[in-house]
Amino acid sequence: MRIAVLGAAGQLGRDLVPRLAGEVLPLTRADLDLARPETIAPALDRVRPAVLVNCAAFNFVDKAEAEPDAAFAVNAWGVRELARACRSAGTKLVHVSTDYVFGLDAARTTPLAEDDPPGPVSVYGLSKLAGEYVARAADPANLVVRTCGLYGVWGSGGKGGNFVETMLRVAGQGKPLRVVHDQRCTPTYTADLADAIAGLIRAGASGLVHVTSGGDCSWYEFAAEIFRQAGVAADLTPITSGEFGAAARRPGYSVLSNARLVAAGVPAPRPWPEALAAYLAERRNKPA
Ligand SMILES: NC(=O)c1ccc[n+]([C@@H]2O[C@H](COP(=O)([O-])OP(=O)(O)OC[C@H]3O[C@@H](n4cnc5c(N)ncnc54)[C@H](OP(=O)(O)O)[C@@H]3O)[C@@H](O)[C@H]2O)c1
Repeated sequence: MRIAVLGAAGQLGRDLVPRLAGEVLPLTRADLDLARPETIAPALDRVRPAVLVNCAAFNFVDKAEAEPDAAFAVNAWGVRELARACRSAGTKLVHVSTDYVFGLDAARTTPLAEDDPPGPVSVYGLSKLAGEYVARAADPANLVVRTCGLYGVWGSGGKGGNFVETMLRVAGQGKPLRVVHDQRCTPTYTADLADAIAGLIRAGASGLVHVTSGGDCSWYEFAAEIFRQAGVAADLTPITSGEFGAAARRPGYSVLSNARLVAAGVPAPRPWPEALAAYLAERRNKPA
């Protein structure tokens, strides 16, 4: 089977490409630019994959508040064009989305299922929710995978690394760290997410499926575990989202249930502390 991966140079894309079976075609913005709709159908025509996995996104969450058009151009209208082109080419679209489609239900305390009503609290979340709808509306055979808090050894190019690397770098500089303790979610290792996406493709899954590492934590608790496992003594203080003062609101609770993933016959990713340990081991062995 021919499988194309858009966003192949990104953090998730780089972990996904080697985990897919068959003929895998890595695509970057130079091949297909979601912000330039005229590049989309010609690129699909050239490649003609059976499946296209879209790992590309405008994912600058705070910047999106000031630049909604840029976020929507990629995450919503670009995905709409991509979904249309995929339908014309007979290509199944597998699209990656986010827990930030939730957040409006601030009192939530139990893991969110795919049928729970979304309610984004940021421009980024809204643009990604629109992208989910256009991907699914184009063809019921398409698959949308929602995930959360990604970190992988390749880092998010546009964002300059990932949360784990930021924590270790700042602590290594001997600086104090103030990390939010009122956002609960599940940091997810891209290698494990990539395995699950590959499994969902093999299983022929469609519709909407949540995939994250197991369990949940606040970002403060995640940071504390990073330092514990890495053996780093850090000056770490819990703060509120209000004290942190980011431009975009984030969900106070966006833990996703993996039940539908398991029902599709794909093993749920390991618990987040185990995934973190695997990440810390992998980063030590990563080629420079
Ligand atoms: N990172 C997270 O914490 C997180 C959490 C939940 C969900 N997600 C979702 O997971 C997916 C993968 O995220 P990631 O962390 O792997 O992101 P990433 O490392 O930043 O990679 C995103 C890729 O998208 C490409 N891209 C950006 N704009 C593009 C455009 N207009 N046309 C074509 N390609 C474009 C980027 O290419 P350039 O290098 O050329 O910009 C980059 O290679 C995204 O859908 C994201 O919304 C991420």
